[in-house]
Amino acid sequence: MLLVVGGAGYIGSHTVKHLIEQNQECVIVDNLVSGNQAAVENLYNSALINNPKSQAPHFEKVDLADCLALAKIFKKHQISAVIHFAAYAYVGESVTNPRKYYLNNVVGTLNLLNAMLDAGVNKIVFSSSCATYGNPQYTPLDEKHLQNPINPYGQTKLIIEKMLTDYRVAYGLKYIALRYFNAAGADKNAQIGESHNPETHLIPLVLEAILQRTAADKKPKSVVKIFGTDYDTPDGTCIRDYIAVDDLALAHYLALEQLDNFSGCLNLGTGIGTSVKRVIAVAEEVTGQACPVEYAPRRVGDPPILLASNKMAQEVLGWTPKTIDIRDIIRTAWNWQLNRKF
Ligand code: UFG
Repeated sequence: MLLVVGGAGYIGSHTVKHLIEQNQECVIVDNLVSGNQAAVENLYNSALINNPKSQAPHFEKVDLADCLALAKIFKKHQISAVIHFAAYAYVGESVTNPRKYYLNNVVGTLNLLNAMLDAGVNKIVFSSSCATYGNPQYTPLDEKHLQNPINPYGQTKLIIEKMLTDYRVAYGLKYIALRYFNAAGADKNAQIGESHNPETHLIPLVLEAILQRTAADKKPKSVVKIFGTDYDTPDGTCIRDYIAVDDLALAHYLALEQLDNFSGCLNLGTGIGTSVKRVIAVAEEVTGQACPVEYAPRRVGDPPILLASNKMAQEVLGWTPKTIDIRDIIRTAWNWQLNRKF
């Protein structure tokens, strides 16, 4: 049985879908603060489309602050390995309210690791982030790049990476920390997708703005702000490495299989950069609708360009992203928006 903490969230739900399609038994632990109960039902429906033998995941509403409840989970289920997604992940909020981030992300993970140790479980795949690098000194970013986060969110992920290393040395913990670049897109069956409240990410904001525009009165209710047009990039807007959420899900599955052979950190991205203006242009092409935009000042803490070298993930996991064309990624996100249930 796999324990998936944060399995009702965006990347977590897509990963559980993939795992149960592969006939893995999963128990989801989620406090449902950012995660969504509907995602648990819908990921199962989607898995059934691809594999009618998929088993519904178990679900336990538990917060990582609750050590007693965590211990009970490990007693109730025979857990072989843990995948840990649960975290607060708004960069801006982490700057204004770091207490919330250190408490939930760092202390919560410490509680989880200690519960694992107490239960004799020594395998974990952890959701880290390219935010641990800070401002790139060169691109593409490889795993050896200096880690110097520029916001508390990135700090929390880096602290956890260090905890994992110390627990490996002292207690024989086997871990893989996956440093995601920009997770994007949705389940190809459009049953689950990106659903944050509030939403701050570029692709869903663009699609939501377009969707509102296509509503009856055709008047845009939200306008997408392009944060900064004076960056040192070809069109002046920030470049990001958008990685399909289904490809992230696959990487977790492969990482679980490699935990006996490798402990360490791996970048997950495509190595392909897409600017903010290009994302908007592609969304307009995919949807056939114009996106209402306005130019705005730079957002604090945004590096001009973030691009992954995924060479190490290819070597260690045998992983290569399958959906690398930004049009295909945005198309899955659009289909989800059209079919959206939560
Ligand atoms: N952007 C806009 N307008 C918006 C929203 C975003 O112009 O309304 C721009 C941002 O400035 C950035 C790009 O679109 O240049 C992508 O922004 P997102 O908010 O979608 O994603 P980020 O790159 O800021 O954040 C992602 C993850 C974080 C992670 C971070 C690492 O979502 O969890 O990468 O830098 F910490």
